Amino acid sequence: MTTVQNLDRLEERQARHTLSVQSLSKSYGEGADAVEVLHELDVRVEPNEVVCIVGPSGAGKTTLLRCLAGLLPPSSGKVMLGDQEMTEPLSEVGVVFQDYSRSLLPWMRTKENVAFPLQGRGMGRSQRMALAEQCLDAVGLPAVGRKYPWQLSGGMQQRAAIARALAYQSEILLMDEPFASVDAQTRFDLEDLVLDLRKRLGISIVVVTHDIDEAVYLADRVVVLSGHPATVVDVVDVPFGMDRDQIDTKADARFTEARRRILNEIRH
Ligand SMILES: Nc1ncnc2c1ncn2[C@@H]1O[C@H](COP(=O)(O)OP(=O)(O)OP(=O)(O)O)[C@@H](O)[C@H]1O
Ligand SMILES: [Mg+2]
Repeated sequence: MTTVQNLDRLEERQARHTLSVQSLSKSYGEGADAVEVLHELDVRVEPNEVVCIVGPSGAGKTTLLRCLAGLLPPSSGKVMLGDQEMTEPLSEVGVVFQDYSRSLLPWMRTKENVAFPLQGRGMGRSQRMALAEQCLDAVGLPAVGRKYPWQLSGGMQQRAAIARALAYQSEILLMDEPFASVDAQTRFDLEDLVLDLRKRLGISIVVVTHDIDEAVYLADRVVVLSGHPATVVDVVDVPFGMDRDQIDTKADARFTEARRRILNEIRH
């Protein structure tokens, strides 16, 4: 009974809201020292979409992601979840940071780490643990719940960090350079996990990445940031739908064209 209920809860992650920024500008510092990093950005993430954000180093990608997460207030403009303005982090929007080794607590077993954000949300311990199990299953880690994070490989730790974001009722996952510190094969596996979660759970996913190939492989739309302050210089539609393949999709002429277009925009 508990298992069925919890399965339902995981399936209920399906995205229902559009996450957007409207005319978002962000400056760091005060008065004469203020530096504008983002200038009047408009970005939309529709339910069940994967949107990738690319741009040169220092362009403001992490700043945009933190604004989308409600972690950083805009200097002007708005962050909206559906028709509600976001002024603080909301449980619908989960964040997976790059540095998974710091995001999981080393003294807690993996399953307890995943269940940790559920404390104080009116669920009993067994229900929390059953849901954590579901989330670990969903990211392809069914058998590691009793291990400590430091007993897992880098790729497994990153999967556990994704499971934890899923457990927290998130219908939208924001990821900042999530696969930068794993080897190439693990990176491909994690990219396919992202596509699989989008398809199976119906969630929306935003990925910040330096890797243009990764952006085109994952995204329905790639948002290209450039300039100081950064503006949206292009939004590239990627036509491959839900089912993609590391070899065939990347060999498609439309893939090469999207990649070339984005590389040009970032370089100039
Ligand atoms: N807390 C802060 N205070 C002041 N300036 C900041 C702060 N955080 C970021 N910046 C500045 O804002 C700019 C954008 O930083 P941000 O981290 O958003 O870029 P990024 O595109 O994520 O870069 P990278 O690709 O290297 O991760 C940089 O010039 C950075 O120095
Ligand atoms: Mg960054």
